[in-house]
Amino acid sequence: MRGVFIAFEGGDGSGKSTQARLLADRLDAEGLDVLLTREPGGTDVGERLRSLVLDPAHAPIDAVTEALIFAASRSAHVRQRIGPALEAGRTVVTDRYVDSSVAYQGAGRNLGPDTVAGLNEWATGGLHPDLTVLLDVDTTTAAGRRAARAQAPGGTGPDRMESEPEDFHRSIRTAFTDRAAAHPERYLVLDAGRAAPELAAEVWGRVAGLLERAAGLGGLDLDGLDLDGEAGR
Ligand code: TYD
Repeated sequence: MRGVFIAFEGGDGSGKSTQARLLADRLDAEGLDVLLTREPGGTDVGERLRSLVLDPAHAPIDAVTEALIFAASRSAHVRQRIGPALEAGRTVVTDRYVDSSVAYQGAGRNLGPDTVAGLNEWATGGLHPDLTVLLDVDTTTAAGRRAARAQAPGGTGPDRMESEPEDFHRSIRTAFTDRAAAHPERYLVLDAGRAAPELAAEVWGRVAGLLERAAGLGGLDLDGLDLDGEAGR
């Protein structure tokens, strides 16, 4: 009776955190038991690793060290939170997962996508999302969103990754879309330049299908859920 595992991926400023939250809210409104979590982070040790690796005061961190810190945070996340939640039949929505490392460290930091994917197979014990939603946005739009976010009241300055030049963000975008193209059945790629409610509706359409299939396989108890209707919109 394993739960369904959904990851949101995309560059900085792609709007994936908003979409992850909208999906978690919708699942919750449908009466499903949801864990919404994020990387780096998701556990006490993971949150500490997050501030360590993203703090601009710590630049530069060597690329291999950086990849290992993200993988360590992920390993804790899988073993302490994601795995147990799935075992308990909960639906897990994570804001970033392995593909972020493959894109940022594998492509952005030039460690090689295969090397970083291999490291993460070990770190996660081979746990893959049932669906990855990739919010694909052109680098100019994403840079504009990051700048707006930094200037908003209470906004923070760019973290270590966000401060990287445009080329870095371009290589990341390509790495994400390459990964999705290699396994189209496990991905939903959306043009993140579109309005948030439109994107959320498309995400829901795909997730509802996934939940129905899981229920058909005996993976979930969906009795009484309104998967096509208006509930929770
Ligand atoms: P995120 O939480 O999405 O940033 P924000 O809170 O600003 O939206 O991610 C933090 C940064 O860490 C982001 O620039 C991407 C980077 N990152 C990696 O480089 N590798 C990884 O494996 C992960 C999970 C994130």
